[in-house]
Amino acid sequence: MNPIEIKKYLLSNAEEQQELFALSNNIREKHIGRNVYFRGIIEFSNICEKNCFYCGIRHDNENVERFRMDYDEIKECLRFIKQANFGSVVLQSGEMTSNGAKDYLLQLVDYIHLTYPEYGITISCGELDYDYLKSLKEAGATRYLLRIETSVRSLYSKLHPSDHSFENRMECLRNMKRLDYQVGTGNMIGIPGQTTDDLLADLRFFQEIDADMFGLGPYVIHEDTPLVNREIKRWWEENRQIIYNKTLNFIAVLRILMPTCNIAAATALDVFNPKGRTEALRVGANIIMPVVTPSMYRKKYLLYQDKPCIDENAEMCAMCTINKVKLAGLNTVLGVRGDSEHFKLSSIGRL
Ligand code: 5AD
Ligand code: SF4
Repeated sequence: MNPIEIKKYLLSNAEEQQELFALSNNIREKHIGRNVYFRGIIEFSNICEKNCFYCGIRHDNENVERFRMDYDEIKECLRFIKQANFGSVVLQSGEMTSNGAKDYLLQLVDYIHLTYPEYGITISCGELDYDYLKSLKEAGATRYLLRIETSVRSLYSKLHPSDHSFENRMECLRNMKRLDYQVGTGNMIGIPGQTTDDLLADLRFFQEIDADMFGLGPYVIHEDTPLVNREIKRWWEENRQIIYNKTLNFIAVLRILMPTCNIAAATALDVFNPKGRTEALRVGANIIMPVVTPSMYRKKYLLYQDKPCIDENAEMCAMCTINKVKLAGLNTVLGVRGDSEHFKLSSIGRL
């Protein structure tokens, strides 16, 4: 697909959009088949040192009651994941760089790897230094998810305070490559001021960095953040359908451009439409991440408003996600890790 076609498809709806989805589905069938893999996600802490302007749990939001789960609570989640037979676990939190926080996560990864050696372990805890990433990898972490949010520097700097470095984020992604992680990144779609060319730049960036997996989703407002004022709120409400469509289109285009990558169906899509994640699977996503976080912590982990699955528990999320895969007409694959084919292919011949 050339850039003009890509831009056309990113903006498509109705017939043209169906044409795009037919294309992306053919590519999926050919390269990775109809399998969908599960990752139980544990949002183990909402403590964050950063202040991203769009995020509900940013450091300066004083309306958030902070928590960090203790090991016993996490062990309970891990037992659930075992029982539900998800093949992988994702540990997600805000960014914490104190030695205490680093030890806590390292020991946790060590425990998971020793107790459940068969699991894929994904870390999603922000920008961490090379040596520590290396220790996590040695302890058994296999994948790391760090969204670039936007690959366009000027837009990045509108979304983050000036001491949040775009360069450092890039360097982290490169470090993960060097350390042989399965590297995951992604963007937000529908950021105020984001153009179709910006989305095209994100796709180029994804190819350049040669990521193995993607977690990407629509931007959703959160009232307690500096990005949102009356005007943005109105703009966002008026553009809901457009943002939703664009995200689905983006997933489909990404599947066509990077056919063997893992792409997660973002929970944030369900804010726009209860069938959001199902649609994402239909048009190219092959990963779903049922929330395993204990119910009592869920309402404290509000990255954006109207976050789904807040009143549910792990059992309900397991049933619901399995159902979504069925509704999408795809295969529920339990009990295996479902590593990125892109990673497996690119590691052939790697020394
Ligand atoms: N809307 C959508 N996604 C958000 N995230 C944070 N805030 C928002 C928001 N308002 C996403 C970011 C981050 C991930 C953990 O959550 O992309 O990487
Ligand atoms: Fe912290 Fe991540 Fe939210 Fe930024 S997006 S404030 S790093 S939790």
